[in-house]
This record gives sequence, structure tokens and C-alpha cells, in this order.
Amino acid sequence: MRYRFASALLGAAFAWAATVPGFAAEATPEALVDALNAVFGKHKGLRASHAKGVCAEGRWIPTAAGRELAKSPLFAAEAPVIARFSLAGGNPRVSDKSRTPRGLALRIALPGGEEHDFVLLSTPVFQAKDPDTFLGLLRARAPDPATGKPDPEKARAFMEAHPDTKVFAGYVAKMPITASYATTPYWGVHTFWLTDARGEKRPVRWSFEPEAGVVGLSEKELEQKPDDFLAGELRERVAKAPASWLVKLHLGQAGDSIDDPTKTWPEDRPTVTVARLAIAKVAAEGEKGACDPLMFAPDKLASGFEPSNDPILGIRTAAYAVSLARRME
Ligand code: HEM
Repeated sequence: MRYRFASALLGAAFAWAATVPGFAAEATPEALVDALNAVFGKHKGLRASHAKGVCAEGRWIPTAAGRELAKSPLFAAEAPVIARFSLAGGNPRVSDKSRTPRGLALRIALPGGEEHDFVLLSTPVFQAKDPDTFLGLLRARAPDPATGKPDPEKARAFMEAHPDTKVFAGYVAKMPITASYATTPYWGVHTFWLTDARGEKRPVRWSFEPEAGVVGLSEKELEQKPDDFLAGELRERVAKAPASWLVKLHLGQAGDSIDDPTKTWPEDRPTVTVARLAIAKVAAEGEKGACDPLMFAPDKLASGFEPSNDPILGIRTAAYAVSLARRME
């Protein structure tokens, strides 16, 4: 009885904390998934975020420049890839015309048995600098239980109080609406540590540059498109020729942000093209595909790579595991 009273009090305190800009309750993986469910609804069997997506398969083709940079098995030899392209957010019926980031998740099965996952976004930064801020942002965007509708003023006030959340919003406001998953660039957002060929640890970040170029849709083209076209477009494109990206490692320098995924690095940082990603097969319409039951883990890294102390990177895999457990129920 006493416990129930205490937990009711705690619940009230959490609800209060979520409504006050500048104050967010402590984020746990469960709380983050609950907050995603509160914003987007619970959808049986589907991911709590990036609910809408399509499975694909392809090859990871490392370059000689990658092998020169580091001895990691990620650069050793060509390897098969399981991929999933998606739209951010937990709404499985979101329109492909939405101004929401696109996602790309990859699992690379490396020779020797190791695996390396990428879980990327089409923005170079994330929405918040740490899990508490992200939780506060999600709670500020959730529908008000009294009205059943989100209160834009609450989200605006939260963002004003947390300027780090405005960086991502700025990119999303300007990003072209993707004509194809294959004409979309993707970024790793976080910093990782790479042990280079000389045995030195250096900070690196990932970007994937589409070889077909970055192509967005004009206002007029958007009007003519249906709400679902991205998966079909990719299927048709790949039936003719693989869709490909140049995979770049950006080499950080002293003073570059390591642990904050809302901060980009200066444009002039050296890059090395370490691989080419070629997507050669897309799951048929109505078919789930190999990626569907998988949980891509942002910290599943080949030897030679280590995660930074970025707190968003630190909590992601645990939150994805909560989502996986719920979608398997
Ligand atoms: C604390 C921050 C974050 C939380 C709580 C979160 C939460 C989630 C959850 C619950 C899923 C579904 C996982 C599953 O059921 O397998 C998901 C998927 C995804 N997230 Fe995040 N995420 C966060 C940050 C990020 C960041 C920083 C990126 C990219 C840079 C990202 C990109 C993606 C992508 C691409 C997917 C789809 C993966 C797939 O296709 O299986 N997320 N996220």
C-alpha cells in the first residue's frame, strides 16, 4: 500500500517534471520507449521508432585506402550486408512525403565471424545531446491526456529551454524530401574511436554519400506522389542496377566534439573513402525480409572500433532491446 502511494507520488513528480521546460526526469531505456509509444502510439509487432521501413540486401566492398588506414576486419574483404531503409518515428502509416529523417540500418557479416552494424540517419546530427533531454523532448511532444492532442506550445517552450534540440530541427527544416532512399545521404552522428594502422586511437565519424547524387522532390513533384512510394521506387531501381554509396570516415582533430551528437565537425576535416555499399536486392512487396526480426545495435562494432562516451550512443542499444522485446510479444 505504502509502495503504491510512493509510486503514485513518483508518477505525479515525473508528470510534473515533463511539463516544465528545462527539467526532465532521468531517462531509462524503458522510459524512452514508453515516451516514443506515447508520441506515436503502440503498434503490435512493429519497431517503437522507424516503424515504417523495407528490408534489402547487398555487399560491403572495402577500399585499399580503408586497409591502409586501419587493420580492422571491417576493411579486410568484401562481405554480405542485410539492410533496412526506414522513416523516423513510430508511426507505420507515416507518409513518404513527410519531413522526417530517413534511416538506414546495416548488418555486415565479416569474414572471420565478426559483425558490424550501422544505424544511420539522413541528418548529420541527432535531436538531443543526451537521453534526459531526448526524453523531455518526447514527453513535451506527446498528446496531452486532457485533450488527446499534442500542445505545440509545450514542445516550443522545451526547445527554447534546450537549444541543443534546435540544431536537428534546423537541419530537418532545410533537408530535401527524398526522391529515393538511394539518393539520400546518411550519417553516423556519433563519434567512434578507431585504432589506426600505427596503433593510435583516433576519433572518427561516418557518412554515406549516394553515388546517384542527392536528389530531393520539388513541391510540384511532391503533390503528384502517393504517400507510399519509397519502397517501390527502390525495388524498381535496384532491379536495373545496384544502388550504391561511398562510405567515408571523417578524421577528427583536437577540439572536435566527441560526446555530443548535436555538434557537427568542421567541413574541412580530412575524409577517407573506406568502402562502397551496394544494395542489390529489395524485399518483394508484402514480404518482410531478413531484416525484419533483427535488432540492429549501434554499438555492435568490428575490432578496431570502440564507442565514444556519447550518452545517446550509450543508451541506444538498451532502448532498442526494449523495443525488440515488445515487438516480439
Ligand atoms: C536516445 C536516443 C534514441 C532512442 C531512444 C532511439 C530509439 C529507437 C528505437 C526504440 C528503435 C526501434 C529498435 C528496434 O525495435 O529494433 C529505433 C530504431 C532506429 N533508430 Fe533510434 N533511437 C535513438 C537515437 C538514434 C540515433 C542517434 C540514430 C541515428 C543516428 C537513430 C536511428 C535509428 C534507425 C535508423 C532505426 C531503425 C533501425 C532498423 O531499421 O531496425 N536513432 N530507435
